[in-house]
Amino acid sequence: MTDTHAEDAAPARVSQRTLGSGEFAMPVSTLGFGVMGMNYNRGPHPDRAALIRLLHQAVNRGVTLFDTAEVYGPHVNEELAGEALARFSHRIAITTKFGHRIIDGQYVAGELDSRPATIRRVAEASLRRLRLDVIELFYQHRLDPAVPIEDVAGTVRELIHEGKVKRFGLCEVGVDTIRRAHAVQPVTAVQSEYHLMWREPEKQVLPALAELGIGFVPYSPLNRGFLGGDINEHTRFDSGNDNRNTLPRFTPEALRANLAVVEVLNVFGRTRGMTGAQVALAWLLAKGQNIVPIPGTTKLAHLEENLRAAHFALGATDVATLEQEVSKIGIVGERYPPEQQRQVAS
Ligand SMILES: NC(=O)c1ccc[n+]([C@@H]2O[C@H](COP(=O)([O-])OP(=O)(O)OC[C@H]3O[C@@H](n4cnc5c(N)ncnc54)[C@H](OP(=O)(O)O)[C@@H]3O)[C@@H](O)[C@H]2O)c1
Repeated sequence: MTDTHAEDAAPARVSQRTLGSGEFAMPVSTLGFGVMGMNYNRGPHPDRAALIRLLHQAVNRGVTLFDTAEVYGPHVNEELAGEALARFSHRIAITTKFGHRIIDGQYVAGELDSRPATIRRVAEASLRRLRLDVIELFYQHRLDPAVPIEDVAGTVRELIHEGKVKRFGLCEVGVDTIRRAHAVQPVTAVQSEYHLMWREPEKQVLPALAELGIGFVPYSPLNRGFLGGDINEHTRFDSGNDNRNTLPRFTPEALRANLAVVEVLNVFGRTRGMTGAQVALAWLLAKGQNIVPIPGTTKLAHLEENLRAAHFALGATDVATLEQEVSKIGIVGERYPPEQQRQVAS
């Protein structure tokens, strides 16, 4: 006997949300795809053909927001995104970022560069690597204290007038920076870390974004895989291509202590038919209609699982229950080491 609903056999499909407002609004899928970890900072990965196939499978499931940056690699991640996705540019958006110092193809750790001439040079180079005529959303990756944000916003505004960029975004900035930038060039989205183990954006940034009609893109929405439950104190991040071995929350001691959060997600999900990763993503989606998380993966199974998170709508009581349970746990380890912490607003 078969008792199969039509949707059980079909691939996951994802609905739509809008980042930003007015002239610079951007309709996107409710969940985007973080391309970074496919070949940068997330350890061993499948070969290029498999990665390109997975990106096509994401397009086929309705994902229209793909996130990369010049510094990922540097360059190899944009090249992958361009090779796989440029042919779909009439129906998807590849977003990218400028702002780290890169010399002769090498990332200069800790140094930032948002000088107007650099932004212009990066835009041209990113367009070439992405095989595009226009960048749908161009983010500043980290605030450069040496360049007033008005000059950064003004440069992106010029690129918009020249038809090379469509929209402007910021990453990991405080409210004052957001307001100053937005006054020069309306901001479509702010991208910052946000998940059940890092809720700082709720204090000031999310209310300001709601007031200004700006979208929010939580990066590392599964806390770099941790909230998916496949990582524990025995996991090694020593491939030479994995920054988690530099992050205080990924020491064996921190992982052991913080697994209590994963257990909360699993317990919560068990009676609702959700996996821990789905609980983590559904919680983000419930925090605001202007929120579009960008989980990354190298696996079709995880892509399917993550997209189906949008099929669950958590109500206010669910959200409160979850937050209450997680708040009982003392999170161990900072999210960044000191030199990277200095580059983020909080
Ligand atoms: N603006 C910024 O400063 C900034 C900083 C960091 C990241 N980002 C952006 O955010 C995107 C995502 O961030 P991220 O890669 O750091 O973190 P993430 O999306 O929280 O986690 C990615 C990791 O989670 C694993 N994963 C995915 N789905 C899973 C599931 N259902 N169950 C268990 N594990 C799962 C993936 O491994 P598998 O391959 O095994 O699935 C991958 O290693 C990046 O691609 C990048 O575009 C932006």
